[in-house]
Amino acid sequence: MDPIVATPISESSNITGFVVTNRNGVKGLSEMGLKTLPKQYIQPVEERISTVSNILPQESIPIIDMSNWDEPKVSESICDAAEKWGFFQIINHGVPIEVLENVKDATHRFFNLPAEEKRKFSKENSPSNSVRFGTSFSPEAEKALEWKDYLSMFYVSEDEASALWPSACKDQVLEYMGGSEPVIQRLLEALMKRINVKEIDETKKSLLMGSKRINLNYYPICPNPELTVGIGRHSDVSTLTILLQDDVGGLYVRGNNDSWVHVPPISGSLVINVGDALQIMSNGRYKSIEHRVVANGSKNRISVPIFVNPRPDDMIGPFPEVLAGGEKALYKQVLYSNYVRHFYKKAHDGKKTIEFAKI
Ligand code: OGA
Ligand code: NI
Repeated sequence: MDPIVATPISESSNITGFVVTNRNGVKGLSEMGLKTLPKQYIQPVEERISTVSNILPQESIPIIDMSNWDEPKVSESICDAAEKWGFFQIINHGVPIEVLENVKDATHRFFNLPAEEKRKFSKENSPSNSVRFGTSFSPEAEKALEWKDYLSMFYVSEDEASALWPSACKDQVLEYMGGSEPVIQRLLEALMKRINVKEIDETKKSLLMGSKRINLNYYPICPNPELTVGIGRHSDVSTLTILLQDDVGGLYVRGNNDSWVHVPPISGSLVINVGDALQIMSNGRYKSIEHRVVANGSKNRISVPIFVNPRPDDMIGPFPEVLAGGEKALYKQVLYSNYVRHFYKKAHDGKKTIEFAKI
């Protein structure tokens, strides 16, 4: 018998072995009915949202109705929201509600599989580097772990996905990716027009949306949610992120004066945020915004972000159109895969990743 499974999990025993190495995940831990949070998950006081943060309940990120997306005022709201907040929600975006519901069901179906099924997609066992089941963000680099399990899938092709992604979720995930394609293009077209990029040709298309990664995130019920985080403060390394969340809530974004603003779940909506790659390509015109997820003491939460990215072998830097008026470049040209590697080799640390590209 597996000695780690046979040993009762107490606070001091082999939690990291059970959760991280043996891939039972925090879901496995949560389901053992643990009464107190293991010390590995206790975040420093300054990282806990409950104790020190300035939460502004009256503030809210913009909600944009995309039903008439070809009207100039819709484009204007998108660009204004991307400049001012870096985060907004869209409704009537054209992705069928059924597609969204199906991918949420598929996420639960995947995480409800027995641990040995999910473990087939861990770093050691996965049939492909592009599919990875794991926990926390970067356990080797983190001082305190994050209360989250995930399945991450890098999209290479329809064929590769059909062959290698977990059958519990692949059809629904592919449908969601395909279904969100038109809205991604519309958002990028609007954002590019404002910064003088009139046409998204093949080169620009590769830089803006040449690759995609989709994650299924699972945040199980946590015994002491106030002491830990679901995801620590970070900005995404994407061009844009399209996030589907369920009705539990817990995502916070950085507002003015160091405040945090909650992103309330709206049925049928998608949350959009600017990532570091777009901040770099727009020379800081659009900014990636720090965000974080709290842990929850009474409900399991899921979310499904699609990270719309440059291709790994693209060089990214400020677009010539943005610099045409004589604006000084704030960022140098960097190989996108180097940028992403830099992100993954450290723990979440707010907006620090972008320093890698600063001149
Ligand atoms: C992420 C993220 C937010 C959420 O996966 O990068 O910020 O609500 N997720 O799960
Ligand atoms: Ni994020």
